[in-house]
Amino acid sequence: MALGAVTAGAVAAAGLLTTAGTAHAASTLGASAAASGRYFGTAVAASHLGEAQYASTLDTEFNAVTPENEMKWDATESTQGVFTYSAADQIVAHAQAQNMKIRGHTLVWYSQLPGWVSGLSASALQSAMDNHITSLMTHYKGKIYAWDVVNEAFQDGGSGARRSSPFQDKLGDGYIEHAFRTARAADPNAKLCYNDYNIDGINAKSTAVYNMVKDFKARGVPIDCVGFQGHFNSASPMTSDYQANLQRFADLGVDVQITELDVAGSGTAQADSYTKVVQACMAIQRCTGITVWGITDKYSWRSSDTPLLFDGNYSKKPSYTAVLNALNGTGTGATNGGTSSGTSSGTSSGTSSGTSSGTSAGTSSGTTSGTSSGTSSGTTSGTTSGTTSGTTSGTTSGTTGGSGGSGCSAVFASVNAWTGGYQAQVTVTNTSSSTISGWKVAWTQPSGSTIASLWNAVQGTSGSQTTATNAPYNGQLAPNASTTFGYVVNGGTPTPPPTLTCTTN
Ligand code: XIL
Repeated sequence: MALGAVTAGAVAAAGLLTTAGTAHAASTLGASAAASGRYFGTAVAASHLGEAQYASTLDTEFNAVTPENEMKWDATESTQGVFTYSAADQIVAHAQAQNMKIRGHTLVWYSQLPGWVSGLSASALQSAMDNHITSLMTHYKGKIYAWDVVNEAFQDGGSGARRSSPFQDKLGDGYIEHAFRTARAADPNAKLCYNDYNIDGINAKSTAVYNMVKDFKARGVPIDCVGFQGHFNSASPMTSDYQANLQRFADLGVDVQITELDVAGSGTAQADSYTKVVQACMAIQRCTGITVWGITDKYSWRSSDTPLLFDGNYSKKPSYTAVLNALNGTGTGATNGGTSSGTSSGTSSGTSSGTSSGTSAGTSSGTTSGTSSGTSSGTTSGTTSGTTSGTTSGTTSGTTGGSGGSGCSAVFASVNAWTGGYQAQVTVTNTSSSTISGWKVAWTQPSGSTIASLWNAVQGTSGSQTTATNAPYNGQLAPNASTTFGYVVNGGTPTPPPTLTCTTN
């Protein structure tokens, strides 16, 4: 398994452009995903492994597993200091025998947490958390591809605030960082993920997580991946900015993984949603794998929603075929909406490998932290402390630029730069006295540089100019209100900044 993890990483880094239209489309989910260096996994319950159809469907179709409950705190340390691994061990042994990747889920979470944990004092809780992380990661050392180190630490809604939990309430904001550092020390070869739900699209909660990850990368806090749970239903549908959201995280220099996918519904509507999710992952080089939250509808945690790929009799549903086709690059029906998907899928998979490794290696000191403080105001409620001090003046001067236009202004800032590329953030402000319903920013992209991906706006061209038109969700701006969009450039420097022209639509 250790070998498998290394190999998969190398394959992922080598590029994933060989997917579309392969002559020999694979016929199982796992093999189809593997053709592009990805995995296709499922949540597994140890108690069902003895059911022949359950095990045979698992072994035939999937090449990764996540224990659905067996590694959670209540299952592994229901009494302080007494560790129980038997159920999780069963899943790990099964997965290893089948050469499957294993996602460890989860080390620090407010839910399925035994009562004794919430009764501890701050210092005792800190020790208990460290001991829990270290014990589990040591027990499974070398066997886990990626751990969900911290799960669901942010609140729903528009605040972008942390969720109340024993960890948050007693240890403060720093507990997440501390957990990741402890995890890195325990098993340096496991990828360390932050995992959450309702962060699938661009919203206040996902932006709060985004800012945390950006801060972690800037300060060298070890984080390798973000898990997007992907529990979709009519109350929490998949949104058209799904791919752009995953891409903006990938552009920070972390892998993105879809970790608990299930979609309420049936028939074509359900299949189309699955297609969109899989196509989005396939279009992002750093989207390294997809896990569905169960094999069969009959054992789903939301069984009445029939959200999975196999029905209660293990028959393949239309959603299964949709996923298989999308993994093989032969999906047709659904699109990701808007024009940006076409642009980014082609360029981002080919180009971002160079930029992302460069990002994490070379750019985290200095420029990132400084500029983010200057540019993210307005979108960033509650940015973590530690990022804003120090370096603003050095980086913003020389990398900001902008100009008015008619009714709106656009200000350019470089939020990250490395040898061979940079990441830009443009702040669009309504400078008129009435609400505007749309905007367009135009600039000339210097020859020799290309835009690898652009998010929070729709990329286009107008003559020799590159344009970015508002996305459906950020066109409307009240007087003086601002929004931002971002893009990654390969082959250029952010100095001098481009001259931007903003016009209202
Ligand atoms: C769920 C399991 O599927 C259920 O069996 C259990 O009763 C509750 O937890 N987010 C997560 C998962 O991170 O661990 C949850 O799994 C689903 C929501």
